[in-house]
Amino acid sequence: MRYDFSNSSNRNNTNAEKYQLVYEKFGTKNIIPAWIADMDIDSPLFIQEAIKKRFNHNIFGYEMFPNSAFEAQISWLNTHYDTDYLQKNVLYVHSARATINMCLEAFSTQGDSVIVQTPVYGPFFDLVQESKREVIFNELVCDDYGYYTFDFDNLKKQIQTNTKLLLLCNPANPVGRAWKKEELHRLHTICKENNIIVISDELHCDLVYKPNKHIAFSTIDDAKDLTVSIYSIGKSFNLSGLSASTVIIQNEKLKEKFDRVYHKYQIGQGNIFSHIAFEEAYKNGYQWIQELKVHLYENYELLKKICDKHSHLVKISPIEATYLAWIDCKALGNSDEKINNFFIKEAKIGLNSGISFGKNGQGYVRLNFAMSKEAIKILLLNLDNALSNHK
Ligand SMILES: Cc1ncc(COP(=O)(O)O)c(C=O)c1O
Repeated sequence: MRYDFSNSSNRNNTNAEKYQLVYEKFGTKNIIPAWIADMDIDSPLFIQEAIKKRFNHNIFGYEMFPNSAFEAQISWLNTHYDTDYLQKNVLYVHSARATINMCLEAFSTQGDSVIVQTPVYGPFFDLVQESKREVIFNELVCDDYGYYTFDFDNLKKQIQTNTKLLLLCNPANPVGRAWKKEELHRLHTICKENNIIVISDELHCDLVYKPNKHIAFSTIDDAKDLTVSIYSIGKSFNLSGLSASTVIIQNEKLKEKFDRVYHKYQIGQGNIFSHIAFEEAYKNGYQWIQELKVHLYENYELLKKICDKHSHLVKISPIEATYLAWIDCKALGNSDEKINNFFIKEAKIGLNSGISFGKNGQGYVRLNFAMSKEAIKILLLNLDNALSNHK
């Protein structure tokens, strides 16, 4: 291993949201934060060094998002995920959420409906509701082992004539699925038959664990004609604070519609340091990601061991992707309040309550295990002790 994940920098007294908002969120400072989806792991040194080099130049005026950076990302995606993206398909956006909002505006109008499959990243349905579109909740199906799949029958039943979009979380936060080709193929067939555009949020695509594979939705049959794909350096390289994401649209008509909204909001070119980091990550980040995934998966296995030891209280879902564990805690208490109290007061761990990912997230928590070996050991000790002592 070339990279070391045994320790990480201390984020206390930085503006890290995960730390700054702890008291507001959990009512105490005495807590290990394992909530917001970034990593307590240092961003790659080679990216830090590239940024420092640019910093030394002293002038930080307007800059273009460099073509070489777009090219680096396209080459990464086409090489690793078998996509056939071209540079003309890609636009810079500062955040995935901004892209989702622009898609809602470009491809639907007020009163239209949008499909969201819960449990899923909360802003998916919040943004739809805030833009006065109707959310169609097509709940994922969970088996006895905590493994989630699409409910195709219910999806077909729920589609209406005004259903314009489906928001796909691929891979899925928080349920940890890397959707299989066959599943995406069936999803595509239904969407195509009903003229539904798929917004495929692929932010976690680089964090798929072997033997699973990331399947880009745009590579399914002729899905690229109805797909808007979203990518970012945020999750993969722990660079969310640099605000650099892209939207990729291969169909020219869809791209034209999107471009009109994009132009209206004057998204700009991103910040200078994000340009450097973006290019550097996609050019030189492959080995780092491979080693990061080994480390993250070990963390998951350690966590699973503790959960399995206390399986009468907590059931952890299998994981194929992401650094977010999804844990069924219904046996810990019959309300979210009781479950939250257990984690805050007894385990002293700050998590996301499952309900924030949709109604069927009730009774679950999401635990972010992306931290150093040293940090996860402390968290696991807290968890093990609290579960052992829980009455
Ligand atoms: C699936 C998914 N999409 C979007 C986001 C947010 O991305 P951004 O900060 O670029 O809006 C997250 C963050 O956790 C996420 O997990």
